[in-house]
Amino acid sequence: MTTTHDQEPVPVATGHLDGPPRWSRRRLLRTMGLGGATVLVAGTGALSYRVYDTAALNPGSGPAFDPWTQWRQLPGPLGAVACAVLAASPHNTQPWYFALGPRSIDVFVDEARGTGAVDPLRREQYVGLGCAVENLVLGGMARGLAPQVTWLPDGNEAGRVAHVELGSGQAQATPLYDAIGRRHTNRGPYSSQAVPAETLAELVDPSGLDGPTVHWVVDPAPKAALSELLVDAAEALTRDQQQSRDGFVWFRNSHDEIQRHRDGLVLDGQGLSPLLLGVAKLLPASSRSDGDQFWVNQTRTVHTATAAAYGVITSTSPDDRRTQLEAGRLLQRIHLAATSRGIALQHMNQITERIDREATTGAVATFAPRFAKLLPAGERPLLTYRVGYPLREARPTPRRSARTVTR
Ligand SMILES: Cc1cc2nc3c(=O)[nH]c(=O)nc-3n(C[C@H](O)[C@H](O)[C@H](O)COP(=O)(O)O)c2cc1C
Repeated sequence: MTTTHDQEPVPVATGHLDGPPRWSRRRLLRTMGLGGATVLVAGTGALSYRVYDTAALNPGSGPAFDPWTQWRQLPGPLGAVACAVLAASPHNTQPWYFALGPRSIDVFVDEARGTGAVDPLRREQYVGLGCAVENLVLGGMARGLAPQVTWLPDGNEAGRVAHVELGSGQAQATPLYDAIGRRHTNRGPYSSQAVPAETLAELVDPSGLDGPTVHWVVDPAPKAALSELLVDAAEALTRDQQQSRDGFVWFRNSHDEIQRHRDGLVLDGQGLSPLLLGVAKLLPASSRSDGDQFWVNQTRTVHTATAAAYGVITSTSPDDRRTQLEAGRLLQRIHLAATSRGIALQHMNQITERIDREATTGAVATFAPRFAKLLPAGERPLLTYRVGYPLREARPTPRRSARTVTR
């Protein structure tokens, strides 16, 4: 028997499998989920340690995942923050903290939580803050707090990115609010079923936001061109040692690391099949170059190969902080609307990450002109994502709790 953290002991094949079956179906199925990998565990101390270490048999467990089950229960302004922390953010950096006043919540950027050369202009960081503000507003509305957002009250580069005034109103729990705890970035394969144009249009609700616009890329020729650009950008990003290194520091490999940091990218979020996920967790943690290669491969064979459509959020002023914050609200809204309709979404921002990298290093711009050809004249790209009907459910990723990020 091998025991795993926080759960009943799980039987491991020992080579004595004949005789009357003694396992319950539930136990058997759970073990079968790891197939041959479980058999490997028997008798190998190092591997059985790794089962414990990565919680291979009990994914999404431990306090780092509690915010996903507790967000509805917390009342008042802290409850709204509990919704905010479940928002998407680049590399799951969660670049935020919140200050609660008697009738307000202030949202601050935590500049230490950046991705360096991956996001040299901090555009994605501000988009992530916009995503959090969208969840904060939905959470505030559901608690009857009538939230009103003022962006950047101290100026564009000050730490306070939003002041959210609270009042009292009727509690409104919308379908988007209900989707907060089910929204996850889905990096797995999507089905070949198209998403109807009217459904795509329904995902976009720009009310109350000015600036960003959404362009859907659905037709085969532009979709193929964008797929190629995404693969090329992934390859370029992995060839750029600084970008590769700055992204890699946000990978969390062991159960212990995940519980300690409660942020970053984890195997559970990579959209793998249960069998592959189990095996990957048993193997030693990937090196940076293996991880890069895996990502480029997945981009080519899964992400772009199975995208039903791409969405691109554009603006004429993508460098403007307020535009980035509003684009974040729009992005989070689209993702929640997709979730509520059973549509999967994966953010895919390697092209704009290369555009910003080329711009800030003085390199010849190669990705900006190629992307511009796929967009209406004058519109510049800010965010890219794919959508489709999922073949696999996405899993939650770790989060710091509302109390941890509230000052
Ligand atoms: C601005 C922004 C950029 C992102 N870029 C990417 C990306 O290029 N590729 C990707 O797979 N995920 C990307 N993500 C998704 C984050 O990695 C994800 O939100 C984070 O890991 C938390 O996981 P969750 O969305 O499932 O809660 C991005 C998210 C945001 C907000």
